[in-house]
Amino acid sequence: MMRESEFIRIVNYIKKNYGIDLSQKKTLITGRLDNYLTRNGYNNYSELMNKVENNPTSNEARDLIDNLTTNHTYFMREIEHFQFLKDIVLPEAKKSLKDTKDLRTWCAAASTGEEPYTLAMILKDFFSLEEEKWDTSVLATDISTKVLEFASKGRYLKEQIEPLPDTWKRRYFKSISHDECMVSDELKKEVIFRKFNLMDTLPFKQRLHIVFIRNVMIYFDEETKIDLVNRIYDMLVPGGYMFIGTTEGIDRSKTKFNYVRPSVYRK
Ligand SMILES: C[S@@+](CC[C@H](N)C(=O)[O-])C[C@H]1O[C@@H](n2cnc3c(N)ncnc32)[C@H](O)[C@@H]1O
Repeated sequence: MMRESEFIRIVNYIKKNYGIDLSQKKTLITGRLDNYLTRNGYNNYSELMNKVENNPTSNEARDLIDNLTTNHTYFMREIEHFQFLKDIVLPEAKKSLKDTKDLRTWCAAASTGEEPYTLAMILKDFFSLEEEKWDTSVLATDISTKVLEFASKGRYLKEQIEPLPDTWKRRYFKSISHDECMVSDELKKEVIFRKFNLMDTLPFKQRLHIVFIRNVMIYFDEETKIDLVNRIYDMLVPGGYMFIGTTEGIDRSKTKFNYVRPSVYRK
């Protein structure tokens, strides 16, 4: 049983450290953590939180955030963004970056990898034979260690890659059992997975051209969201694009972004 004071303690810890607002999510917290507590021999939530708060880099702290994040994602999710990328953003970028040939894309809540791998396939397809001359690698970050480990293995059920065109399935995946497949080395080397907390200072030396930050800010409160959006704005090159989830919105009066179309913004 989770006491009210323990619930508040977890909510405050997660909000302060990760921006995620769980104040209405008591059932989610107990649903995801009760078993963890029993399995690991804790008598109550206070014991767990004492460990977590004493050492934020401990395995307990890592397990807590792994368990409390929602990681749902899939290949080709919100396909209109990939279409827009291919038709508008990439042709523009190819022209404007013809001298440096360095296109910097960040996938900021990459979860189990379906989104950054989809981006990498779009990029490979678009640059095609010229790809060798370009650096189009995608930086993919998330706060959950568990999903990042999954993502870098690149192992999926065959039914998960169903939404992809057949040519991509053949080129970028190899079958490893009758129902599983693995991302090819050719595609894996285009995606760099790193742990990064969106509440921290953005870790870039150079400005970015494209940021995908989809279906993560729904977990943040308005103030946290606007602060993050403004930090992303500062990190983009002029003309750079930010994509958010299609069901998300941002208060345009509070950012300098230009609105391009629903869920697409430009500096
Ligand atoms: C629902 S998934 C979205 C996945 C993908 N972007 C998509 O749209 O399909 C949300 C992801 O955001 C991550 N996340 C939540 N809070 C975060 C934070 N403070 N910093 C970095 N990642 C965070 C979670 O771990 C989770 O994998």
